[in-house]
Amino acid sequence: MNRDWNPSLYQSSHSFVWEYGRDLLGLLAPLAGERILDVGCGTGQLTAEIARAGAEVLGIDHSVSMITQARRNFPDQRFEVQDVCAMPFRTEFDAVFSNAALHWVERADDAAAAMARALKPGGRLVVEFGGRGNTRALLEALRLALKARHGAEPQRVNPWFFPSVGEYASLLERHGLEVTFATLFDRPTALEGGGEGLANWFAMFGASLTEELRQPEFVRLVEQAAAPSLLRDGVWWADYRRLRVAARKEG
Ligand SMILES: C[S@@+](CC[C@H](N)C(=O)[O-])C[C@H]1O[C@@H](n2cnc3c(N)ncnc32)[C@H](O)[C@@H]1O
Repeated sequence: MNRDWNPSLYQSSHSFVWEYGRDLLGLLAPLAGERILDVGCGTGQLTAEIARAGAEVLGIDHSVSMITQARRNFPDQRFEVQDVCAMPFRTEFDAVFSNAALHWVERADDAAAAMARALKPGGRLVVEFGGRGNTRALLEALRLALKARHGAEPQRVNPWFFPSVGEYASLLERHGLEVTFATLFDRPTALEGGGEGLANWFAMFGASLTEELRQPEFVRLVEQAAAPSLLRDGVWWADYRRLRVAARKEG
């Protein structure tokens, strides 16, 4: 999905993305001297964390603004503007890592093929992103607000790729990746910004949902619909469900 990213808003109000991603580094277990590819690296915080283990890391992201910010944040790290689906790498990496990026990629099959190609035989893939049922209540609130405003069922509310364990494991297997670990788990996430948390979330991630989210009065409608399930003691919670997968390239 091609869209603009706002690195300043990402870093100031959405640090929970890479804070939670740190947990995934335990599964990656990077070793000194390994070559590791960080797919959809954003502003580079996890790329730098992997490098701290002594690995040689390359962060790629298709957003020029995110890569510009990543280079500013970590001038000693390597970052490149690349679309995961079109990566040119062949059997170069000991591990491919990705946090919170792959649900943005509509061409999931091409992404898996490119990540598999990039790995050395025996190399490992460690990824986490939105899984089946991710942000269900949040998207339902959006659906209700659109329906209330237009008096008709909206056509398509969810533009993301949120696969189940079975779907994603099968997809990886088709590309010669043997799945060694897979789990789908609820991870309710407190949004930063107090009463403005949900509005911030839509401003950061919702541009691809509907233009109407740019209108504050429409965001208020969504908030009304979402409040019973997602607002607790003045804090907005996103009903995240993550799919976490580890796999190994056969051969
Ligand atoms: C929510 S951010 C996560 C960034 C980082 N991994 C982290 O944990 O902070 C998602 C990133 O995926 C990137 N992305 C989305 N589609 C992509 C694609 N097709 N190829 C490469 N990067 C992509 C976006 O540009 C964005 O920087």
